Amino acid sequence: MQARAALRQPQECRLRDGTPVVVRPIGPEDKERLQRGLRELSGRSRYHRFLASVKELSAEQLRYLTEIDCVDHMAWIALDPALPAEPGVGVGRYIRLAQEPHVAEAALTVAERYQGRGAGALLLDLLSRCAVVEGISTFRAHILQSNVAALRLVWHVGGTVTREDGNLLRLDVPVRPCPRLVGAAPP
Ligand SMILES: CC(C)(COP(=O)(O)OP(=O)(O)OC[C@H]1O[C@@H](n2cnc3c(N)ncnc32)[C@H](O)[C@@H]1OP(=O)(O)O)[C@@H](O)C(=O)NCCC(=O)NCCS
Repeated sequence: MQARAALRQPQECRLRDGTPVVVRPIGPEDKERLQRGLRELSGRSRYHRFLASVKELSAEQLRYLTEIDCVDHMAWIALDPALPAEPGVGVGRYIRLAQEPHVAEAALTVAERYQGRGAGALLLDLLSRCAVVEGISTFRAHILQSNVAALRLVWHVGGTVTREDGNLLRLDVPVRPCPRLVGAAPP
């Protein structure tokens, strides 16, 4: 129990270029932040995240994405302390699959200006630390084959890629912390 609580404490981390970020579990107070973050994301990133041209989240979707149990559904939000009024750096999330409880669907979203600076790897690392103690051994994601950034990230952590329909790929990533991908991971 204590280990679980310790894993969910806010973390002070750095991106690969040294930019400080604060990462904490997402909460009900983040609804507006999430909505704005989505609005400010490029059409391409939004399509890569949702595999559809989602521009707004409904009240029900915002509730689902922010009011989480941190056990079967975990999400970290990364914030830039230098820009407190901005929506933030990104969000990493996993949701356990009911039919395969050792597998969780995972999704990462990093705001345009922070992409390619290690935020995706950082969020994946923090998600992995939580998932391990919840008995989750695989993260699964469905992506377009044009999503080079996600493919590179998976390549780094040793995941497998399976072609599904047309341009759709299934990623299966073994759950393990990946601090070597992160500039300055928490201890
Ligand atoms: C996919 C995504 C989460 C990656 O996050 P990120 O913070 O940019 O990733 P990182 O900086 O940790 O980079 C991880 C690796 O991907 C590479 N990478 C990141 N962006 C890249 C790009 N646009 N093209 C090529 N490689 C890229 C990095 O160089 C790094 O590889 P390297 O170590 O060989 O240099 C981010 O691009 C994103 O939010 N995309 C839109 C939403 C999405 O596609 N989500 C994933 C599906 S749910």
